[in-house]
Amino acid sequence: MRVIANDENIKLAGSIIKKGGLVAFPTETVYGLGADALNPYAVAKIFEVKNRPKFDPLIVHISKFNWLEKLTEKIDEQALKLIEKFWPGPLTLVLPKSEIVPDIVTAGLKSVAIRMPSHPVALALIDSAETPISAPSANPFGYISPTTADHVEKQLGDKIDLILDGGKCPIGVESTVLSLLDEPTILRPGGLPIEEIEKVIGKVKIQTKSEKILSPGQLQTHYSPRTPVKIFSSIEEILDKRIENAGILLFKKYDFEVKAKHVEILSEKGDLVEAASNLFSALHRLDEAGVDVIYAQEVPEVGLGIAIMDRLRKASGKKIE
Ligand code: TXA
Ligand code: MG
Repeated sequence: MRVIANDENIKLAGSIIKKGGLVAFPTETVYGLGADALNPYAVAKIFEVKNRPKFDPLIVHISKFNWLEKLTEKIDEQALKLIEKFWPGPLTLVLPKSEIVPDIVTAGLKSVAIRMPSHPVALALIDSAETPISAPSANPFGYISPTTADHVEKQLGDKIDLILDGGKCPIGVESTVLSLLDEPTILRPGGLPIEEIEKVIGKVKIQTKSEKILSPGQLQTHYSPRTPVKIFSSIEEILDKRIENAGILLFKKYDFEVKAKHVEILSEKGDLVEAASNLFSALHRLDEAGVDVIYAQEVPEVGLGIAIMDRLRKASGKKIE
């Protein structure tokens, strides 16, 4: 349903977010497809609706500064200067994440991208939902980012709970993404010119295409467990293996016990959305369990299963990008 973004409808949208639903909303850059950033199941639905064949970390949108401390581990001088100057506005900062940020939001990374949008509808919606909202641009995979409610309706209208129509997005391109994890590095040029950032914190690095390919780990745009991952398809295969010091990642629960040092079940009833919402935290726990190898079970390659398999294949070292 598409509605005008008045006070009453923003309230309605806030209650949908609170209940784990999806709302498309205007920001000053592009329309976002929002879900409660602290609800992993709701966030997994974003990927399902967008039909993304892979998981990418999402930006967490806040309306009040006090959320910043809750979502991050460390805010340094540089971050504070930039925030003071450019928030609310089209600047996204990548900072070390706190415990409360679900792994599906950051695609398993230890960092989180945060921004405070300046659009009054976006701010009012986040206030009304009383939770940070994670939102990618509200377009299906492979389409350009929507800058009107019309674009959103045409592309995703039947798949989401509500579209808040707040007119045309004034900036029309996505926010600038700046990583402050290490040397300040532009990960994505966008609505805030790099020169403006440099006036405040001095020269920044710009991530090049080749760096993206050559050193994804270093730049922290990609998470994979350190433990070797091997993919298996049928459960029988795993029952024959010597698995004393192995970890097992199961798609669903079986009515017999699967024995290994550490077993993780993505979704007891085999629901792909639930499986996606648990994927990265399960991989982290397996990685920390001190096992020699992680056997990961294939999931059906439909809907979110495509993105899950993409990540498992990357983790198992098969190059597919
Ligand atoms: O203007 C915008 O930023 C819009 C509106 C809706 O806020 N959002 C947007 O989200 O463009 P999305 O998901 O389409 O793009 C997010 C970008 C991606 O390039 C992603 O890789 C990067 O931010 N990103 C998010 N979290 C990150 C992290 N922890 N580390 C590195 N990059 C991150
Ligand atoms: Mg996008």
